[in-house]
Amino acid sequence: MKEQIAQIKENAINEITEAKTLQELNDVRVKYLGKKGELTAVLRGMGALSAEERPIIGSLVNEVRDSLESEIQKNESDLKEKALNEKLEKERIDISLPSTKMKRGSKHPINRVIEEIEDIFVSMGYDVVDGPELETDEYCFERLNLPKGHPARDMQDSFYVDPEHLLRTQTSAVQARVMMANEEKTPIRVICPGKTYRRDDDATHSHQFGQVEGLVIDENVSLADLKGTLEIFVRKMLGENSKLRFRPSYFPFTEPSYEVDVSCFKCNGKGCNLCKQTGWIEILGSGMVHPNVLEMNGYDPKKYTGFAFGTGLDRLAMFKYGITDIRYFYTNDVRFLNQFDRKDV
Ligand code: DAH
Repeated sequence: MKEQIAQIKENAINEITEAKTLQELNDVRVKYLGKKGELTAVLRGMGALSAEERPIIGSLVNEVRDSLESEIQKNESDLKEKALNEKLEKERIDISLPSTKMKRGSKHPINRVIEEIEDIFVSMGYDVVDGPELETDEYCFERLNLPKGHPARDMQDSFYVDPEHLLRTQTSAVQARVMMANEEKTPIRVICPGKTYRRDDDATHSHQFGQVEGLVIDENVSLADLKGTLEIFVRKMLGENSKLRFRPSYFPFTEPSYEVDVSCFKCNGKGCNLCKQTGWIEILGSGMVHPNVLEMNGYDPKKYTGFAFGTGLDRLAMFKYGITDIRYFYTNDVRFLNQFDRKDV
């Protein structure tokens, strides 16, 4: 019997060491240690042994089983490691291979212009503020010295939602909002870029367009401050050699009011198709804040003066990038947008 057990052990160990896969190893386990396995059969047959032999054989079988089990375990962990290594080898990734190129969006030209304007004015100490696009008649017109029935309201074809609400026609509405929100009535220096709406639609007018408004209120603010500020702005935005021309104009919220032209940056003022042979391009409206506007929004016009200006973002972007139809900005044609790739940001 002892020999039989020793034989079983030897065979089993051989087979365990030869097993090449986890499956083969498991088969060996079943063959020897399973319910119907060879070693189990020996245990089952112990009933036929004498009382003296039984404990001896019993402990021998247990010993063999323990050693087979530890042998199996050892081989099992070797095989597992081998399998893992094979798997890792098979799934190896070559990180030096070039990746597939991801398409990235490009910054919209209007946003580029906004960011540029913000940088220029923030560097001069201005805050950037926001206002609602759905505006009240009060803020869009009345508080800007445009009472109901004022003829200048006809200059702006508005989208009214109800008699008191409209899509703002001008970012100037934010002037009144900033003044009213400032409870201490302290000095103000802000710009407000944003969307504006009018009932227009042709190559140079879109029903939705962008404006940026500027407002400065303080003691002793003069027209010279307005001129100097706009000169810095235009030179940084459109080129160091740009010249400015102030033409008297009319806006209800400023007095005096000016339309400001910049020397044509395409022909340097000589006259070309962009400036319609005049050498000048109109870029913004501006003026000294009307005393009525200061007063209506809680500022004492005897103590404070101010200047304001408003310019069209679309026009600036059209000049800067040589775009001939304003509607390109709003139709989101990728062939157009791709030309403003990030590379040259
Ligand atoms: N809001 C005017 C427009 O849309 C532009 C403008 C003119 C703004 C004069 C101003 C200003 O702040 O002082 O036509």
